[in-house]
Amino acid sequence: MKFFIDTAEIDEIRPLVELGLVDGVTTNPSLILKSGRDIIEVTKEICDLVDGPVSAEVAATDYETMVREAAVLYDIADNVCLKVPLTPDGLRTCKHFADQGKMVNVTLCFSASQALLAAKAGAAFISPFVGRHDDIGHDGMALIADIRTIYDNYDFKTEILVASTRHNMHILDSALIGADVATIPPKVVHQLFKHPLTDSGLAAFVKDWEKTGQTIA
Ligand code: E4P
Repeated sequence: MKFFIDTAEIDEIRPLVELGLVDGVTTNPSLILKSGRDIIEVTKEICDLVDGPVSAEVAATDYETMVREAAVLYDIADNVCLKVPLTPDGLRTCKHFADQGKMVNVTLCFSASQALLAAKAGAAFISPFVGRHDDIGHDGMALIADIRTIYDNYDFKTEILVASTRHNMHILDSALIGADVATIPPKVVHQLFKHPLTDSGLAAFVKDWEKTGQTIA
């Protein structure tokens, strides 16, 4: 399963690139706001830092303006993946660019039938939001399993990009279901390292090593 990083903060992305954990990045208008950066400038910096797809989201909600915004966003770098909302105008924009062989990520997906529409529009990625589903008492991971079944039934090539991940179980369950990608906030990536037995085991090894009086390098 690929790891995309769900942030527009360069300082959060760079250390994860150095760990080899970044297969791509996703941004959205809220993350751009949080970064305090200009969308074009920060997207360019992220694209330079990361080899994989970098999702940049349109701000418009109508087809004509989305297409104009897309031209600007695609022009930033070859690895820009256009992000559009799951609306009729968004899917029309998706089809327009997918037909030209360009990457499109369809976002704000909350049902398996919406995911079916995005696949038929030629989306490279569908972004179902698991955390926001959980927030209203639904089972976000059940949605991922349903989309996996549907896409496998018809051999759709659209990749399932699990979004709105909030904790390590979302990542583990995504991998068990066979999602193609999870987009993960940096703090959740760091949570994945954590296990109390790793911490206590390392502390014991360090203590015992000191007692040997040896050095390796
Ligand atoms: C990513 O593509 C989504 O926009 C993001 O994961 C949404 O996460 P949130 O529900 O925590 O805002």
